[in-house]
Amino acid sequence: MKLLVVGSGGREHAIIKKLNENPAVTEIFALPGNGGMAADATCVNIKATDIDGIVNFAVENAVDYAVVAPDDPLVLGCVDALNEKGIPCFGPKANAAIIEGSKVFSKDLMKKYGIPTARYETFNDLNAALAYLETAPVPTVIKADGLALGKGVVIAETRDEAKAAVVSMMQDKKFGKSGENIVIEEFLTGPEVSVLSFTDGNVVVPMVSSMDHKRAGDNDTGLNTGGMGTIAPNPYYTADIAAECMETIFLPTMNAMNAEGRTFQGCLYFGLMLTPDGPKVIEYNCRFGDPETQVVLPLLKSDLLTVMQAVTNGTLADCDVKFYDKNACCVVMASEGYPVSYEKGFEMTIPAETAPYVYVAGATLKDGKLLTNGGRVLGVTAVEDTLPAAIKTAYSRVSTVSFGNAFFRHDIGQRALRALEE
Ligand code: AMP
Ligand code: GLY
Repeated sequence: MKLLVVGSGGREHAIIKKLNENPAVTEIFALPGNGGMAADATCVNIKATDIDGIVNFAVENAVDYAVVAPDDPLVLGCVDALNEKGIPCFGPKANAAIIEGSKVFSKDLMKKYGIPTARYETFNDLNAALAYLETAPVPTVIKADGLALGKGVVIAETRDEAKAAVVSMMQDKKFGKSGENIVIEEFLTGPEVSVLSFTDGNVVVPMVSSMDHKRAGDNDTGLNTGGMGTIAPNPYYTADIAAECMETIFLPTMNAMNAEGRTFQGCLYFGLMLTPDGPKVIEYNCRFGDPETQVVLPLLKSDLLTVMQAVTNGTLADCDVKFYDKNACCVVMASEGYPVSYEKGFEMTIPAETAPYVYVAGATLKDGKLLTNGGRVLGVTAVEDTLPAAIKTAYSRVSTVSFGNAFFRHDIGQRALRALEE
């Protein structure tokens, strides 16, 4: 079978490595992929947002099955366009990907169907938003409606900060069209949990839970990033909470999308906060998380391609989705200066014994050398019986990898360890 994976990050590398475990897979094309994936996939320089280019490539190369991993091509209708040419895909159609593509849509969906989330107001008018902020409680949370590379959320401690965020989104158009509409919502507190799930519109099958570490620096200091590391499972997410989430969030969301004529088939990501009033949805993503995927998929015992095809065919209920009863830790190694500005082009050394556990996010091959080519450069994962062991092994593997200007957090998993001790 010839597969195509759209995307280029560590998440895509983890998906590709897992898909390669199926002996029926003869070739995987990564569009565009990156130089660090060359051993696992054929990288083809077509951008993830070049929908026509992707479709033409898939048709010309008789691709049997495609996995569309990033948010932008999903929201742009990449799955719809591939399906039109008869190519089956993993990933939601555009009318369902809107659950991530528009925060106004997802908040209104949750309100309409009684799914627990932060209280909110939506605005398309600058003055109305500013007037509302005169009396809104602080801290408050300002969110651009559309996709903003994970940067469209501002937690404002004061009203002035909140107003500045609104002005930068709605007047200065910091996120372009994504900020024309905004959501202003209640600030919630509690541990965060990422739950990725497979859903075919008939059933929801949650994957093992995970915990992201979004801030750039140790002890959750510094700027927000795409994610500096993950652990799985998340110790805050107990069996009781999981059962509650299925009842109050997961099934109601699937049913709501069906009722709206927007059946979601793919990976539905629930970003949850375990508040004193129970679990609430912070965000939905229409795709696998990055770097959550780098800890979740190594724990997947079942064959990924089989599960994905069951999602596409609507037969997920008949598919046995099993996870190892183990723990995983992924430490992201980034370029100094990320997420603001950083140098690229440093030679990378990844020893052969570490390579199987490395998911490369930002690298390029030049004259046979692997060079850094991004903010997040790679993630190093370990799977062990216990969380402390997984953390230890992940860091010992990190110590074998080197490249210029590398930095990483030293405390991935420490909060989870504290939770286990509580
Ligand atoms: P998002 O881009 O939607 O994932 O939001 C980024 C981060 O902002 C989340 O992971 C949370 O830590 C935080 N956040 C978003 N919404 C809220 C909220 N209503 N209350 C508190 N924190 C929030
Ligand atoms: N790690 C968060 C995300 O993928 O959105």
